[in-house]
Amino acid sequence: MPTRRKFLTTSAASLAALAVGPSAEAVALPTRPVVGKPLVISTWDTGLVANLGAWKVLSKGGRALDAVEAGVMVTEAEQNCCVGLGGNPDRDGIVTLDACIMDEQFNCGSVAALERIKHPISVARRVMERTPHVMLVGEGAQQFAVAQGFPLEPQQLSPDAEKAYREWLKTSQYKPIVNIENSGSKKPVGPVGGANNHDTIAMLAQDARGNLSGSCTTSGMGFKMRGRLGDSPLIGSGLYVDNAVGAAAATGQGEDVIRIAGAHTVVELMRQGLAPKAACKAAVERIAKIKGAKARDIQVCFIAVSSQGQHGAFALQKGFSYAVCDAQNQQQLIQADYLLR
Ligand code: GLY
Repeated sequence: MPTRRKFLTTSAASLAALAVGPSAEAVALPTRPVVGKPLVISTWDTGLVANLGAWKVLSKGGRALDAVEAGVMVTEAEQNCCVGLGGNPDRDGIVTLDACIMDEQFNCGSVAALERIKHPISVARRVMERTPHVMLVGEGAQQFAVAQGFPLEPQQLSPDAEKAYREWLKTSQYKPIVNIENSGSKKPVGPVGGANNHDTIAMLAQDARGNLSGSCTTSGMGFKMRGRLGDSPLIGSGLYVDNAVGAAAATGQGEDVIRIAGAHTVVELMRQGLAPKAACKAAVERIAKIKGAKARDIQVCFIAVSSQGQHGAFALQKGFSYAVCDAQNQQQLIQADYLLR
């Protein structure tokens, strides 16, 4: 494994080469709590760099909540990435952002359909910490962000998003693209390029005190209907944390994650004794059963961390990877096991 310094300069291609096979098999949870081993996991290959942002906090004994905010901020700030203001717009050509965050004490905050703000995850945290509410949307969320001192960014598309949007306008066709989130800076362009994409990073961390937190941030489905929300800003669908049991988060087709209250379902399955991977698998199976033959058109993926520090993931289809960073292994990209063969 590369050192952290080396890793930062490693190319995307060589990062992909770090991928290893499935781990964290469906074994029973240990009864002995494991604390003092900080850990962060996040979705897709973009999670590798985001995890380093979180690790800076965790490795100094910082709080998991601070780590999951700092981690996904790295991705939100990347102009050529699919998350944040660099992401694909809705079908009216406007980028709208969704994010949520949850800590070890059931505190949670969320923003949805937020425009022109670089770090929706930090606004979500302010909602959690400075309002009596959990969720603010649209204009109200933007007003709150500005009142909190977040600058309004220009209303403009990144060059990649502009190109993808112009291509999409040629057909304006909705068609799911499986694993589109994994395209990183290589946004697809073409007749259906980017249509129905999900552009999400979800992150879960456990700090040295054993406390869990999670974050999720997205520009949502590319070229979505104006006003469409997915699972990512919804506590219980895109993200859920119960410090006594575990934490879970989702990526993929938000509508189908919402149908089963995905992240909460995974945590409840862990409460019943399933290991993280087995809990993610059971949630994916539930979605597959609902979708029937249409399951092949979509991708849904879950990641989970138990209160004992085990991690796992499972996807509906091949191609989902999640990034893990801990003191022992430093960085790895794990190819998740999947249902549809
Ligand atoms: N999972 C992100 C979305 O569907 O918007």
